[in-house]
Amino acid sequence: MSTPRVIQDPAELDASAGGCFVPTMGALHEGHLSLIRAAARKGVPVITSIFVNPTQFAPNEDFSAYPRPLDRDIQLAADAGTDIVYLPSESSLYPEGRLASVELANGFPIPDVARQPQLEDSGRPHFFGGVCLVVARLLDQVRPSATVFGEKDWQQLQVIRAMVAGDDRFAGIEVIPGPTVRESDGLAMSSRNTFIPPTERERARGLSRALDAAESATTPAEAESLMRATLKSHELTVEYAVIREPERLLPVADLSQPTRAIITARLEFDGGTVRLLDNRAMPIV
Ligand code: PAJ
Repeated sequence: MSTPRVIQDPAELDASAGGCFVPTMGALHEGHLSLIRAAARKGVPVITSIFVNPTQFAPNEDFSAYPRPLDRDIQLAADAGTDIVYLPSESSLYPEGRLASVELANGFPIPDVARQPQLEDSGRPHFFGGVCLVVARLLDQVRPSATVFGEKDWQQLQVIRAMVAGDDRFAGIEVIPGPTVRESDGLAMSSRNTFIPPTERERARGLSRALDAAESATTPAEAESLMRATLKSHELTVEYAVIREPERLLPVADLSQPTRAIITARLEFDGGTVRLLDNRAMPIV
């Protein structure tokens, strides 16, 4: 068991400048830990932040219900190779206060890739403003040389890449992608998977099966309809199931270049809903 340095005051972060930074919202699982291990391989100090960011949740979403097993998270982060666990207070990240920060997030300039139709923005228009605002402020405080983001949230990874590349104040920060870590049944790991009742687990496999189904398609339209059909046959409510060019997430006419299948569906059951995301590189045909 390693003992990490736990920092709450951003003034103490000076030691972290030049390190490799892994931002998280906690409830850490193997997916997060794989990013921390990737950061540790850079050979510079690893800083992991844990902050459940209010500005990326809509009022009807699960901000207060989001799991917060803090002591366990600190130990897991340390054992995976974190040197500094940063636990920012809401007032240090958002000195303007909750209401003003939500407003600021709503108007925050976000890269075009965040606004692509039929993706995250269509159902959650507040989301990328909140993510970009908090990541920008965390990068300003931590001043890392590199930062690691998971491919599990493919659009988020592209949005962060574009934000970092498009702003001089982040010049020189390398954005490192980390592959999606899955449960043995194929379900992409997520902090929200703990909300899936065991009796509904089989339905959750619909996401990875939808991506399997898409691989046999010869056109984007066929892939999209195969994904939808598979999600529906698992009684999942489709939010989106699309084939896009991997970086800017623009629609594609065929599968002759690298493309990405990206899906989000809701698993609805008696007493709750869990939103599930997944994505995969499509074969070139
Ligand atoms: P969170 O959902 O905690 O995820 C933190 C990081 O872990 C993200 O980069 C995410 O893509 C990655 N991750 C989650 N599940 C993964 C998996 N199964 N395999 C690999 N990586 C995985 O994403 C956020 O928090 C927030 O939006 C944040 C960037 C911290 C801003 O608040």
